[in-house]
Amino acid sequence: MVAEVVQSSGLVVEGFVDDFVAPGERVLGLPVLGNAEWLSRQGPRVVALGIGDNRKREVLTAALAAQGHTPGTFVHARAWVSPTAQLGAGTVVMAHATVNAEARVGRGVILNTACVVEHECVLGDYAHVSPNAVLGGRAKLGARTHVGIGATVLNLATVGDDCVIGGGAVVLKQLESGVTAVGVPARRLR
Ligand SMILES: CC(C)(COP(=O)(O)OP(=O)(O)OC[C@H]1O[C@@H](n2cnc3c(N)ncnc32)[C@H](O)[C@@H]1OP(=O)(O)O)[C@@H](O)C(=O)NCCC(=O)NCCS
Repeated sequence: MVAEVVQSSGLVVEGFVDDFVAPGERVLGLPVLGNAEWLSRQGPRVVALGIGDNRKREVLTAALAAQGHTPGTFVHARAWVSPTAQLGAGTVVMAHATVNAEARVGRGVILNTACVVEHECVLGDYAHVSPNAVLGGRAKLGARTHVGIGATVLNLATVGDDCVIGGGAVVLKQLESGVTAVGVPARRLR
């Protein structure tokens, strides 16, 4: 998906880097160039991370930056990002996602298909907003927090770091860091 976001914006994807698929094999018609060790021996590249695990994406981004690579920020041609919104380095915005006025999105965030990030939301680094999830105006998400498919965080609600909000849940006001919550209204999963 991330490769197709990059392509949709008119850029060329050279190929994939993968530790589990042999070099020379093709994925989506593109070559697998090598593994992480291969990339560590290459000159500076712009990289797009297709890694869903928020913590792993954070760790790998730091490792790649230390090798001189740059995490690119990519927006699908059919997404809407307000000119007054901010996207951190390495953030990827998928098709039909909407990011409205003065939203501040951290680094390495995934804004998945058709999600909505309303005006003045603040999203921590390496968060993930799943397909069709909605963050109401001025909602806040902590670092590495995952908002599940179709979930809603109401306007002005605050969610801490490293939370998981289950698919379809509705967060009314607040969730502490490290909590997994499900349901309507969202309650901590024991
Ligand atoms: C919340 C979630 C992380 C919990 O996963 P888990 O820890 O494996 O939990 P389990 O599947 O063991 O379910 C535990 C209990 O929570 C309930 N539950 C799980 N997810 C739920 C949800 N989204 N809404 C309501 N209840 C849910 C289960 O029915 C179960 O209840 P029970 O104990 O009464 O039987 C997961 O179900 C979820 O919603 N993940 C989001 C996935 C997603 O959006 N991915 C996006 C990819 S792009």
